[in-house]
Amino acid sequence: MKFLAGVALLAPLAAAVWPIPSHYSHGDKTLWISDDVAITYQQPLHFQQYSLRASASAADAGSGSQRIVQKAVSRAYETIFKQSYVPWRFNHRFSDFEPKTTNKKFIQSIALVQNKTDAAGVLKPKEGQFDEGYTLVVGPAGKVTITSASSLGLARGLTTFTQLFFAHSKGGAYTKLAPVRIDDSPKFAHRGLNMDVSRNFFPIDNILRTIDALAYNKMNRLHLHITDAQSWPLEIPALPELSAKGAYGPGMTYSPADVQRIYTYGALLGVAVVMEIDQPGHTSSIWHSHPELIAAWNEQPNWITYAAEPPSGTLKLNSPAVYKFLSTLYKDLLPRLSPLTSYFHTGGDEIKYAAYKLDDTVKSDDPAVLQPLLQKYIDTVHKHVRDAGLTPVVWEEIVLTYNLTVGKDVLIQAWQEPTSAVAITNMGHKALVGDYNFWYLDCGHGQWLDFEPGVASMKYYPYQDYCAPLKSWRQVYSYDPLTSIAKDKQHLIVGGEVHMWAEQTDALNFDGKAWPRAAAAAEVLWSGAKDPATGQNRSQIEASPRLADMRERLVARGVAAEPVQMPYCQQDGSQCLYLASFDDA
Ligand SMILES: *[C@@H]1O[C@H](CO)[C@@H](O)[C@H](O)[C@H]1NC(C)=O
Ligand SMILES: *[C@@H]1O[C@H](CO)[C@@H](O)[C@H](O)[C@H]1NC(C)=O
Ligand SMILES: *[C@@H]1O[C@H](CO)[C@@H](O)[C@H](O)[C@H]1NC(C)=O
Repeated sequence: MKFLAGVALLAPLAAAVWPIPSHYSHGDKTLWISDDVAITYQQPLHFQQYSLRASASAADAGSGSQRIVQKAVSRAYETIFKQSYVPWRFNHRFSDFEPKTTNKKFIQSIALVQNKTDAAGVLKPKEGQFDEGYTLVVGPAGKVTITSASSLGLARGLTTFTQLFFAHSKGGAYTKLAPVRIDDSPKFAHRGLNMDVSRNFFPIDNILRTIDALAYNKMNRLHLHITDAQSWPLEIPALPELSAKGAYGPGMTYSPADVQRIYTYGALLGVAVVMEIDQPGHTSSIWHSHPELIAAWNEQPNWITYAAEPPSGTLKLNSPAVYKFLSTLYKDLLPRLSPLTSYFHTGGDEIKYAAYKLDDTVKSDDPAVLQPLLQKYIDTVHKHVRDAGLTPVVWEEIVLTYNLTVGKDVLIQAWQEPTSAVAITNMGHKALVGDYNFWYLDCGHGQWLDFEPGVASMKYYPYQDYCAPLKSWRQVYSYDPLTSIAKDKQHLIVGGEVHMWAEQTDALNFDGKAWPRAAAAAEVLWSGAKDPATGQNRSQIEASPRLADMRERLVARGVAAEPVQMPYCQQDGSQCLYLASFDDA
């Protein structure tokens, strides 16, 4: 009872920082912030001063570090003054939540202190290369200092800073949490979302908005699954026919300028884009321009023997023409990506060996025949990737199903079972977690295949998809990337990704499907699944009001995130609880 009363009293004051910082203490004094507050950015070789408001219109110029900090400062301005919200759920019958508008005390100054010069490549960070940790101090008299060893850490600290503030119903912005001290750093180095822009086409704005939401949740990777069996939206100037014939339609392609824009937008917000060209399977869309390169194209009606989804088709496995094609493709594409990312995803999932029985360069489905051919294929592709200065990322089947040998630099992305990450790390490989039992955001929306009469009623009724049920934010949040990983292997868990496959998702429903559930994963990846104070799983009771706040903040910046709960559960500091004792009732 005492505990419940505590919850009820604390909730209205909830210090709505998401993801939760490693160490966080705050007071209960009000400080206002004005948009002309002076900001200084100091690093060993550089000193700069601007006002928060002026930062919004400042030119994107200078070193990578300066551009990142400039972007973070202008984001902070936009967030606090343009994209904030009046916390309505605290106001009704709790109207004293808002501070009085008389005798305002203001934030005096904001000092961004970078105590180390960024190494080269801050616009294309490798995992763990730049310290994203920071210290944020809001002194009692309104002096703010954010300290970090990198420009990326300063950007993370400024993001936290914006979440201390609410808009006031009579204008202006304030925090009620001064003084504040936060010492924070990420638990995992790779914190991403996989966005499938091939099954459905997504306009650039949707992708940029997603990068913005990722950065706001301190995620740092956008995995763009950009081509697949169903469409090839990626323009390759050396092979213009690929998207001309393989995209869904005119205007449904990504030009080199679009790609440059997406990568730059991400790099400046500390969100590195990891483009994936899935291969050798999942490539049927190449058939439209290069039928000679594809085996088992659109086998019907039994596509299911040859591919995971229709239309079937795979790059031929023993074909000089395919190797020539890959060389042209990667020599065009990769040098354009490598200034703004350190990674490229070469796919490799869901090969059906039967397809190579129909491949005139192989004519076999025998693993003993296919295995060396697959090895040669992956070696060739990874050489292209490394020649461009990039690190390959692959799906788990490469090492777990096809038994191929890849470098220890490669990130292996687990997706099938929680045990996959265990197997990958036991082989000494680096792993990304995010299996479909927890982190597939497309699951639970039902089948997209049309069933013949009679079939569904027997086996699939009521038309569930393979990974049903839907993964609620609570389930996403309950996932611990380190589950079952031996202590001496945990350093190989580099991070993880939530996945938004797009068979039934397009620009109209993406935001609500992705958010706020991806934010639940963001907190697991930044803060860890366990509360360090207790060593126990983090509490939904503590998380839910903060996530509800994050949802409002996402909506305020134009992301159509779904509600966490009905307002009743959050308003007036109430909370909707399910107690353990109910199980016995
Ligand atoms: C730089 O600042 C960070 C964040 O406060 C701190 O962890 C680190 O120890 C500092 N490094 C130096 C060299 O002062
Ligand atoms: C990989 O190894 C497993 C277990 O040893 C075996 O069942 C499978 O056939 C192998 N796959 C290939 C492609 O060699
Ligand atoms: C903590 O979470 C893990 C999943 O990550 C789960 O297996 C375990 O049962 C949870 N522990 C408790 C006490 O709820």
